[in-house]
Amino acid sequence: MIEIDGVSHAIGGQPILSDVTLRLPKGGVTALIGPNGAGKSTLLSLMARLQRLERGAIRFDGLDVARTPTDRLALKLAILRQETPIGTRLTLRDLVGFGRFPHHRGRPGPGDQEKVEEALALFDLQDLAHRFLDEVSGGQRQRALVAMTFAQDTDYLLLDEPLNNLDMAHARHLMRTLREVADSHGRTIVAVLHEVNYAAAHADRIVALKRGRLAFEGPPGEVLTDERLGALYGTPVTVREVDGHRVALHYA
Ligand SMILES: Nc1ncnc2c1ncn2[C@@H]1O[C@H](COP(=O)(O)OP(=O)(O)O)[C@@H](O)[C@H]1O
Ligand SMILES: [Mg+2]
Repeated sequence: MIEIDGVSHAIGGQPILSDVTLRLPKGGVTALIGPNGAGKSTLLSLMARLQRLERGAIRFDGLDVARTPTDRLALKLAILRQETPIGTRLTLRDLVGFGRFPHHRGRPGPGDQEKVEEALALFDLQDLAHRFLDEVSGGQRQRALVAMTFAQDTDYLLLDEPLNNLDMAHARHLMRTLREVADSHGRTIVAVLHEVNYAAAHADRIVALKRGRLAFEGPPGEVLTDERLGALYGTPVTVREVDGHRVALHYA
């Protein structure tokens, strides 16, 4: 379980997150939604301790993020950041291999290679594994980054906008793969998603942030309504039900 208790965060006196308290059970897929600037990336980075927690507490299965040594934390959770600074003269296999670093600390063994091959296969990257990062499309690169996160073999995966750069076919495929990662590999996924309809179709839970506060949370079938989404994004949204999933219409 992820426990977030009274987390507040300010930058230069400006409140970014205000008293966020949240419980996320182990397993499944949680979609973190909300308008630009709501604080989604900040919350994820505090959860992974990429930034120092100023107020409140965050625990993963009782492990206090503020007090856990970095090497131990890297075996508990993996994070894909919104912007990932990486060199281009790396092959996709090398990139995915970086995910194993917390396990082997620079001396990969056969077990690490196995995990890398497993991740490449799961994310459909085997045929591209020898290519350099600057020789693949933005979508393929994005998929390799998610595969790297998976290869880290942690209970928790925090993914900041994993659907970035993906067309509808690749986005759907990645969401289905994330579902499999949760269902068959027993991992817990928290993903920032901009497209609410992917959240509606694939997530077990929605957590909505607005202006640094928790706006609402719950299963998609309960919380995704015209009123809630309209208020969250400040734009008219019509929600319909299609094949048992909520669908938000907001293009016209
Ligand atoms: N390093 C920073 N310095 C100043 N303001 C920041 C910084 N990082 C984020 N912010 C501000 O914090 C707010 C939340 O940002 P962020 O967590 O990235 O939102 P989201 O991911 O929901 O779009 C925004 O208003 C953003 O401008
Ligand atoms: Mg963000």
